Amino acid sequence: MPHLAYGGDYNPEQWREEVWPDDIRLMLEAGVNLVTVGVFSWSRLEPTGGTYDFGWLDRILSLLHGGGIAVDLATATASPPPWLSHEHPEMLPVLADGVRLWPGARQHYCPSSPAYRLAARRLVERMAERYARHPALAMWHVGNEYGCHVPACWCDESARDFRHWLERRYGTVDALNRAWGADFWSQRYSSWEEILPPRRAPTWSNPSQQLDFFRFCSDALLECFEIERAVLKERTPDVPVTTNFMNVFKPLDYWRWAEREDIVSNDSYPDPGDPDAGMRAAMAGDLMRSLGRGRPWVLMEQTPNRVNWRPVNLAKAPGQMRLWSYQAIARGADGVMFFQWRQSRAGAEKFHSALVPHGSVEASPTWPEVVKLGAELKRLDVVCGARVKAQVGIVIDWESWWALELPSKPSTELRLMDQVESYYRALFDGNVTADFVRPTDDLSRFRLVLVPNLYLVSDDGARNLVGYVRGGGRLVMSFFSGIVDSADHVRLGGYPAPFREMLGIEVVDFLPLPAGTTVPIRWSDGTTTPSSLWTELVNLSSPGGDGGGAAKIAEFASGVLDGRPAVTRHEYGNGNAHYLATRLDATAMAELLRRVATEAGVTPVVNAPAGVEAIRREAPGGSILFLMNHSEESVDVRAAPTGEDLLGAGGDRPGGAVRLKPRDVAVIREPRDSASDG
Ligand code: GLA
Repeated sequence: MPHLAYGGDYNPEQWREEVWPDDIRLMLEAGVNLVTVGVFSWSRLEPTGGTYDFGWLDRILSLLHGGGIAVDLATATASPPPWLSHEHPEMLPVLADGVRLWPGARQHYCPSSPAYRLAARRLVERMAERYARHPALAMWHVGNEYGCHVPACWCDESARDFRHWLERRYGTVDALNRAWGADFWSQRYSSWEEILPPRRAPTWSNPSQQLDFFRFCSDALLECFEIERAVLKERTPDVPVTTNFMNVFKPLDYWRWAEREDIVSNDSYPDPGDPDAGMRAAMAGDLMRSLGRGRPWVLMEQTPNRVNWRPVNLAKAPGQMRLWSYQAIARGADGVMFFQWRQSRAGAEKFHSALVPHGSVEASPTWPEVVKLGAELKRLDVVCGARVKAQVGIVIDWESWWALELPSKPSTELRLMDQVESYYRALFDGNVTADFVRPTDDLSRFRLVLVPNLYLVSDDGARNLVGYVRGGGRLVMSFFSGIVDSADHVRLGGYPAPFREMLGIEVVDFLPLPAGTTVPIRWSDGTTTPSSLWTELVNLSSPGGDGGGAAKIAEFASGVLDGRPAVTRHEYGNGNAHYLATRLDATAMAELLRRVATEAGVTPVVNAPAGVEAIRREAPGGSILFLMNHSEESVDVRAAPTGEDLLGAGGDRPGGAVRLKPRDVAVIREPRDSASDG
């Protein structure tokens, strides 16, 4: 689309048709140009198996098209209709302990169920046939939030599918026995038929089996998506296909999923009560952009105000919806959409806010903000397609995430996203832009690569990271990285085997800390800071290897590790690598990353006061700088370049600075030569 998309989930089937013209009128008032139609309408479209009713959908699509509103048409397969599970009860998902999930909510299907897959494909074929040439059709929305409620199923159909998946992966039962380390606890299999998903067992199931089950579950759902996508691509090769992601969602390997999408889209519901909400939403935005390999993405769902699924659902403060919408655009989104258009009267989400509330729009505290944002976005066509450039890469790998958080580790308190956030927070606060990357990606465009707790690493991934440093890259890695291979078998020869030479250290043992306790570490300048969660017994490698041993830049300052390395730095090849043997507190992390980044030549977007987020998008005609004030105070951004504020707040520039009220935003079109190179 030549314009930023603005709109949301529209569920006209919940309303009498007399209401629809009013919807269109209000959509035009709000500046809506794209709506997602029919996400949960399967039981309307196919009221009984094989009988279809598309009349209502025809009528609403015509109305929308008449109003100039494009449609992101959903395939409606996220909530199977009652007749399907009635005819095929075996399609209902089963938990690890054998409990079957019943219909009555949504997403009640086993991803491997042939009955579900067949019925879904049949419906999508009918929809593609009917609407392929509809002038309102702008995008296909496959399913909805895959895996949100049912990321995995342990039923017999799933067991059969899992076995086939394993056969494809390993070829022989012997190879599987080796990969699963099946001699531990007498688990050698003699035939494929004996193999099961990791159902509830007396104690820990085999971790390699569990890891493969994670892989399989992500793939089984991806196959459901693929079945629908293939139908749509055959009929409408030029219509983009998406399915909506859920931020940093553990069950699905979004790297693999995003490769199959034309446009990445995301649902974002930051908690207004969470002081880190802005940082977390920014991180999700960077992840979406990175998953799409830099292409613009779409904020598919957010709420104008309250959700209804937290224990206590706080309202957004005035301006917060607008601020968080701009945050998505600043981080690469070309569209801002909501769940949902009109607030439901019935059902499980009737107290979830919507653009059109139960009462009148005139009385709604959020409607004016919705209308204002819609009008503003119309002025930002120049942003469409503009790219965000990052100088820092942060490594995230789903397989490592799954393996790291399986039980029976030195500490179950070690959670990947806490660690990723401990890096990301420092960058966010310093207005340094980062992309997320896989361990095997080309890293050459980054001045600095951060590797939070990469417990599992493939041979290729390890080679790539080491090659990056050898070739002149700078890297920071934290504890419990490089420990196992892709089968979750320990890499022998001293931890972290694939990175020891690069880091110039050997980790001899892990000494996790009790929850809530800290240990001081002392830096080279004599200052001490508290660290937590984890410590390690680290030996510096003896000089004489490639680049010699690492230098100690901080040491533990009490307890059994007193005086031993806590943070190290090693010159290796043409680059260098830092290693953190413990979790630094936020201040020390920020200071360390600031120093490393400065040395690597990483530059902040602009120097802005605390609480102001700055991001730049590069368009062919010049760059666009977004300044967003997350604080409760008015602030002046002095370092901001001159240039037109596309939101029209041009007058308010005391002494050349950009003045931002609390939660306010400026979108500055920079003169060609004022943007930095990153
Ligand atoms: C998700 C779903 C929507 C709705 C919202 C409510 O994002 O995709 O259907 O349930 O949550 O917040």
